[in-house]
Amino acid sequence: MASNNRGHFSSRLGFIMAAAGSAVGLGNVWGFPTKAASNGGAAFLVIYLAMVFLLAFPMLVAELTIGRHGQSNPIASLRTIWTKNRAAAGLFGLIAMIAASMILSFYSILAGWLMGFAAAPALEVVGLQSAADWLVNFGGARNVVLAVLFSLLTILVVQKGVADGIEKWSTRLMPMLFVLFAVMIAYIFTQDGAMEGLKMYLIPDISHITPSLMVDAMGQAFFSLSLGVGSMMVYGSYLQKEVNIPKTAGQVAAIDTGVALAAGLLILPAMFVAKNNGVQIFNDAGQLMSSGDLVFAVLPAMFDTMGGIGVILGIGFFVLMVIAALTSSISLLEVPVSCAQDELKMERNTATWLIGGAILIVSIVISLNFGALFGLVADISTVYMQPLLGVVWAIVVGWIWNRNNLLNELKEGNPDIAQGLFWKIWPWYVRIVCPVAIMTVFLFSIL
Ligand code: TRP
Repeated sequence: MASNNRGHFSSRLGFIMAAAGSAVGLGNVWGFPTKAASNGGAAFLVIYLAMVFLLAFPMLVAELTIGRHGQSNPIASLRTIWTKNRAAAGLFGLIAMIAASMILSFYSILAGWLMGFAAAPALEVVGLQSAADWLVNFGGARNVVLAVLFSLLTILVVQKGVADGIEKWSTRLMPMLFVLFAVMIAYIFTQDGAMEGLKMYLIPDISHITPSLMVDAMGQAFFSLSLGVGSMMVYGSYLQKEVNIPKTAGQVAAIDTGVALAAGLLILPAMFVAKNNGVQIFNDAGQLMSSGDLVFAVLPAMFDTMGGIGVILGIGFFVLMVIAALTSSISLLEVPVSCAQDELKMERNTATWLIGGAILIVSIVISLNFGALFGLVADISTVYMQPLLGVVWAIVVGWIWNRNNLLNELKEGNPDIAQGLFWKIWPWYVRIVCPVAIMTVFLFSIL
């Protein structure tokens, strides 16, 4: 049952939308602008672009190729390559599953907040001011309620499977997000102060380029492209053999980076517009105030300046953000669900509810102990597990996978690949440069 009747993406566009859906999420719209704004703007932008192109993109190709080769869940896919050490394949597959579950457990909380921000303006309009305030202000009960709602959405989509759930929703909703971004960027540049933000975003000050900025930029690039924890492996396994993997990976990376850049182009100018309108965004020492809340403070302030249309745009924006988060969260839940489905021979429905429910319980525990647990879970999964698992995948592809078999997998969908530039560089690059570079940046981050 493992490989014959599993779902596939029905078209290449469907796959690109789904993989881009996984990649585009809170990382782009919340993480990237926040990190750029607190790391000197343009300096972060430049290093981030380098990290995406030099490290994240080659690793995206590696993960998609492992998955497409295995045509199965990450554990089984790794086993088809790591034939001599099936236990190691199982172990690292399991660690990836745990990392994906941990990321989902904190991601649902953040995504829940976005649901609150989407609903609040509508409640305000009908006069339910105190309900609206409850939704947008930090609180344990509010965190729990919203995380439960978001988790249920994630479970319902994943339960529906690949073509009907994941692909259908990604293809419909991603384009709407792009259009809305364009509209908001156009608007923000009609406002006073926007140019100041644009300058910060585009004129690099190289004194900001420090080891810690490099660490942040790599982490952000890996998070944004959904690397390390098996999301892209499992999506690759639903990919048809006719598809050219390097090209498709390039398109996914380009869409993801485009959305992050657009988010920066919106948020940094919006920060200065907000400042112009009296919202305090820098403290007396000139540092960015509570950077985590930046996006949540600045965007509603922007919508407020827009009058009636602002209410509509605000609701629209946060609804689409919830959707972007949803197309990401489903790629996280899909990792443990696909493993349980094949390895434990569980029904998809059962696996989705059981695992989704267990992760939700973790989210609730984190919500109620936010100060102690949120940063901890986020750090363990994204600062430690994601890069280390990335190194393992680079070793699997670069050292363990027989070079000819790897070439044969990439030749499907790209028959002439052996003659091209990609094949001249990528194999040794993933073998040597990726593990060394990821390890180097990682060691900086923990020292
Ligand atoms: N990339 C998504 C974002 O930017 C989040 C995400 C989905 C993710 N799947 C992942 C992050 C796997 C790390 C690993 O919001």
